[in-house]
This record gives sequence, C-alpha cells and structure tokens, in this order.
Amino acid sequence: MFRVAIVTLSDKGAAGQRTDESGAVIREIAEQNGYEVVSYTLLPDEREQISAELRRLCDENVAELVLTTGGTGFSPRDCTPEATLDVAERLAPGIAEAMRYSSLNITKRAMLSRAVAVIRGGTLIVNLPGSPKAVRENLEYVIPALGHGLEILT
Ligand code: MTE
Repeated sequence: MFRVAIVTLSDKGAAGQRTDESGAVIREIAEQNGYEVVSYTLLPDEREQISAELRRLCDENVAELVLTTGGTGFSPRDCTPEATLDVAERLAPGIAEAMRYSSLNITKRAMLSRAVAVIRGGTLIVNLPGSPKAVRENLEYVIPALGHGLEILT
C-alpha cells in the first residue's frame, strides 16, 4: 500500500477563513484507490513554505505520493507550480498533460491550470487545482495509472 501526503495551499484556508473541502476530496479518492493518507498540511500561498514542506515530505520519506491542491491558477499569489519545480529532480509532464486533456472536455478553463508533476527521490508530487470539483475530475482520471509509476519509482 502506498502512502499519500495531502498538501492544501490556500491563504484563506490557512487563515481559518475557509474550510478545506478539497483536501477531504483527495482523502476520499485516495482511500478508495487503496492509498493510506499519512500526512495533511494546510499552508498559505508562500513559495518558500510550500517548497520546504514538499522537501520535507520527500527527503524524510514520509510518503511515496504527494498530492497538492490549490495555487495553480493565474492569481498573483498562485505559486504552487513554482514551489514544486523548486524541489524537482525529474519532471513527469504526462500526468499534468493527461489532467488538462481530460478536463478540457469538461471546461475550457482547464487550460488555465498551471499544474505540474515532478519526482524527488522516491516521491512523486502531483499538483491539482483548487476547487473540490476540479480535484475530483482531475484526480479520478489520473489515479488509476499512478500506482504503476510508484512501483517503478520505489
Ligand atoms: N479542471 C477541471 N477538471 N475542472 C475545473 O473546474 N477549473 C479550472 C482549472 N482546471 C477546473 C479545472 C480553473 S477555473 C482554474 S483557474 C485552474 O484549474 C486553476 O485552479 P486553482 O487556481 O484553483 O489552482
């Protein structure tokens, strides 16, 4: 069973002004697909804080899969892809390509997600958009293929 860490990026969530529904959707889908949720973090849209947490999750071998939600759009504060690329050792572009490919059938706004997927050590990090609806649509499409990648990675 692979371990998954959930990282939610939201200024309002971190300030206690909004409930994190997207993190709960990730947990539900991950558990349905046989993953064990071992970590949950809620951070503001601060690049250094995000990259430090991603580094910790990978380098301390907390989880094989890190799923982030939020901060992938065009808002000036959105910096999740940049923080993720800061810690990347290798790129896994096909995962974000697949998410945008499938999501474009649902909304043209899917092209506005700047999400990336990368590998650091034995951990795969995948960015998901911020809304619970977008999390569900994106994660349900890609999660069936992730296990095979993690088997090869670990
Ligand atoms: N993908 C799917 N499947 N469904 C959606 O509703 N929303 C889009 C996009 N991807 C969406 C989606 C929108 S409107 C934006 S702005 C981007 O994801 C980035 O979202 P974020 O800023 O919440 O991370």
